Amino acid sequence: MAGVTIKNLTKRFGNVIAVNNVSLEVKDREFLVLLGPSGCGKTTTLRCIAGLDTPDEGEIYIGDRLVNDLAPKDRNVAMVFQSYALYPHMTVFDNIAFPLKMKKLPMSEIEKKVKEVAEFLKISHLLNRKPGQLSGGEKQRVALGRAIVRNPDVFLMDEPLSNLDAKLRIYMRAELKRLQKELGVTTIYVTHDQVEAMTMADKIAIMNQGVLQQVGTAFEVFNNPSNLFVAGFIGSPPMNFINCTLKEENGSYYLDAGAFTVSISASLGKIISEKASSSEIILGVRPEDVIIEEKPVAKNLIRAEVYVTEPMGSEIVIDLKVNNEIIKVKTLKEFKLNIGDEVWIRFSEDKIHIFDRKTEKTIV
Ligand SMILES: Nc1ncnc2c1ncn2[C@@H]1O[C@H](COP(=O)(O)OP(=O)(O)OP(=O)(O)O)[C@@H](O)[C@H]1O
Ligand SMILES: [Mg+2]
Repeated sequence: MAGVTIKNLTKRFGNVIAVNNVSLEVKDREFLVLLGPSGCGKTTTLRCIAGLDTPDEGEIYIGDRLVNDLAPKDRNVAMVFQSYALYPHMTVFDNIAFPLKMKKLPMSEIEKKVKEVAEFLKISHLLNRKPGQLSGGEKQRVALGRAIVRNPDVFLMDEPLSNLDAKLRIYMRAELKRLQKELGVTTIYVTHDQVEAMTMADKIAIMNQGVLQQVGTAFEVFNNPSNLFVAGFIGSPPMNFINCTLKEENGSYYLDAGAFTVSISASLGKIISEKASSSEIILGVRPEDVIIEEKPVAKNLIRAEVYVTEPMGSEIVIDLKVNNEIIKVKTLKEFKLNIGDEVWIRFSEDKIHIFDRKTEKTIV
């Protein structure tokens, strides 16, 4: 068992900086999800840890062993790929047994281990089949079996569920999480799906354009995003962003969005004016934090028009038009709203986020 430590990892491909000075610590037994949009450097980071790519700069430790100069086979990590990479001409048994045969273990021991792993993954009845005769979920389990049987220090998983249909993917998420906890093997799991990341991770590391943006629990990255990118990437539908100018009149502060204004407390106003690089800021409000009223029940409500409604079963997403901006609202309440109806909205101050428009860093 071992944790993984990455120090100042940089990897370039020609002019592209795929991974840019990334430092990251994954604790022993932890399930870390590496999350970010396509091309942000997730696979490259994983391949550097596995030894399939050579870093240009930085160090990689598995436990307290510096592994930069170790061949992939000597790192004791097991990688599970998106494509499963099963050998099509071999049976399930032989696929799982393959890494043990490479290690030249005695046949009796190989048989025992493969059977144990197959039982654990509930695929004992499939051992004589070939990959072509398996469903996507079954192939996935065989690929996992081949990784588990090696008893590695670390699992590296690159979007292992992305080829499965939606229902099976949700089922396998829970299975994999459970499996990881039972085995207690340190795992680095790559995905671009923020819901998958939130549901599976002990800790999420969010990357963008090769740069690590934030590391934290699902709760932390959702509630306290460190910058505009993380705020917009985590959460579905994404956070609403509204360009505003901070203004002050006789000690009263408000945010001027052009089409409407939002009054804020003097204490919040002061914090923003102290921390922001200018009065140009971005107001962020999650769709679930917009309060919607059918009547103008209070002063200072913002008038909006229903643009479209998106029922999702237990909840509904309402797209509202405020002048030329669309503000999304997610609510559990039942509203009978039609396109073009007039409604009123407000944001409670303890739910809003404020970003510096120039640096894109979180102010509040
Ligand atoms: N072998 C390579 N040669 C040249 N450029 C590469 C190579 N591998 C990756 N890149 C570039 O490095 C960047 C990071 O790629 P990487 O595969 O790590 O992204 P990713 O986050 O895994 O994306 P995805 O979610 O699409 O799999 C991209 O701009 C990619 O085009
Ligand atoms: Mg990738």
